[in-house]
Amino acid sequence: MGFKSEIARRRTFGIISHPDAGKTTLTEKLLLFGGAIQEAGAVKNNKIKKTATSDFMEIERQRGISVATSVLAFLYKDKKINILDTPGHKDFAEDTFRTLTAVDSVIVVVDVAKGVEEQTIKLVEVCRMRNIPMIVFINKLDREGKDAFDLLDDLEQKLGLSVTPLSFPIGMGYDFKGIYNIYEKNINLFSGDSKKNIEDTIAFDNIDNPELETIIGEKAAQDLRDNLELVHGVYAPFNVESYLSGKQQPVFFGSALNNFGVRELLDCFIEIAPAPRPKMAEERLVKPDEKELTGFVFKIHANMDPKHRDRLAFIKVVSGTFERNKPYLHVRQGKNLKFSSPNAFFAEKKEIVDTSYPGDIVGLHDTGNFKIGDTLTEGESLHYKGIPSFSPEHFRYINNADPMKSKQLGKGVDQLMDEGVAQLFTLELNGRKVIGTVGALQFEVIQYRLEHEYGAKCSYENFPVYKACWVDPQDNKNDEFREFQRIKQKFLAKDKQGQMVFLADSQFSLQMTQQKYPSVKLHFTSEFK
Ligand code: G4P
Repeated sequence: MGFKSEIARRRTFGIISHPDAGKTTLTEKLLLFGGAIQEAGAVKNNKIKKTATSDFMEIERQRGISVATSVLAFLYKDKKINILDTPGHKDFAEDTFRTLTAVDSVIVVVDVAKGVEEQTIKLVEVCRMRNIPMIVFINKLDREGKDAFDLLDDLEQKLGLSVTPLSFPIGMGYDFKGIYNIYEKNINLFSGDSKKNIEDTIAFDNIDNPELETIIGEKAAQDLRDNLELVHGVYAPFNVESYLSGKQQPVFFGSALNNFGVRELLDCFIEIAPAPRPKMAEERLVKPDEKELTGFVFKIHANMDPKHRDRLAFIKVVSGTFERNKPYLHVRQGKNLKFSSPNAFFAEKKEIVDTSYPGDIVGLHDTGNFKIGDTLTEGESLHYKGIPSFSPEHFRYINNADPMKSKQLGKGVDQLMDEGVAQLFTLELNGRKVIGTVGALQFEVIQYRLEHEYGAKCSYENFPVYKACWVDPQDNKNDEFREFQRIKQKFLAKDKQGQMVFLADSQFSLQMTQQKYPSVKLHFTSEFK
């Protein structure tokens, strides 16, 4: 197969949802269709459950599982599908944001009873900002839930989407009879037999055909006709261009657990979802079919074995091919690196491969060369953008609890920050280190990993910060900036890249600062240039 066909047949995407909406179950059913796994239950649940807060072994176990499920690849029809795992737990939201820089499209799973939930809102917002094509899957139709039209309204109002249903449920919960597939014009009947892997489909081109009554009953037939009329009246017809440019989001209904509506979703997905897309670097737009390799690191995973401190860096191939044993330029370090055992990912296992194509994810063993956001090329000085840091939610001083191990602590903190576990700030006034995380859970993970992987001990001390704001150094010429710097000295720090950060201790002080120094621009993400 030629280079261009290899690109054209790849679909790299992420499934996002609020925890418990059914992401894991859907992933598993997709893999079943691809023949990548043989039975349900084979994809281990990689959720960090709420009960894991203080159970370190549980954290470790889950971390192990999440390496295995970081990328799940399978073949379906003639397509090579790469699913990138995105943790749903809000404490790991940064991980998910970063993974979204490596996907070409997204499937959003929504629970029919709960509707749009908090994590979905945040994640969809990131996708919308990047114009990532999204398909919505409304799950758990076998249960009693919200009215389909109310849900569609919810998607538009709470998520700012512009939806168009491509399937429509016939009844719901106890009365759930099946789904009319608007895209394929057929009906799928629901038997409620959860062991069944592939359900029966009845072609139904013309919804006015009186046979509909015999199949689903009089009332259901009438309701379906009315609903479809409303759908056609209210929602714009599906337009693939609008979907691809992030302007329209098709919606499917189903039940992942019962494997109902999943094949329809997958069949439509492989038809409409984008193949690897061009990506913007600071210097230029890079097209996937360019001959030379370019790619970037979007995730780093520490090895499970604490004795070997090597890590796995996940690279998304943007253009060209990634070849085993070929030297590539690590742009930030300005040095060439060769990789003798690049990993490709398949469902649940990784294998050494010689060649990977755009859209693929390559796992590279790393002893500390890579940071999230690093770019690899064949010599070009290119920097992929789009992996910003957001303000952490929790801040604590980190103290060395074992003076004999300060080197180990320094190295451990450094490497964990490169992995993107948390953010480190160094106060300008006294050089004290402050760790910022999205969730409180990370502090325990960091403490545990420092001890078990680096032999260092740390303690924390509260540091009340409301928000970290990045300060544009371009402004620093004027008097107002100098005044800001002098008065707020106590609250200024440097992040790991050396950028200046203002750590506002309350919403009030942030507002006052903005009012008092209007020319000092405060930014809420690290990427503002
Ligand atoms: P997540 O990855 O998005 O967090 O969700 P996950 O797939 O783990 O699903 C969360 C719960 O919802 C699971 O139940 C799962 O079995 C259930 N579920 C998923 N899809 C459907 C569906 O279509 N219908 C119904 N009725 N339930 C569904 P659990 O009891 O939390 O876990 P488990 O013990 O069953 O694994």
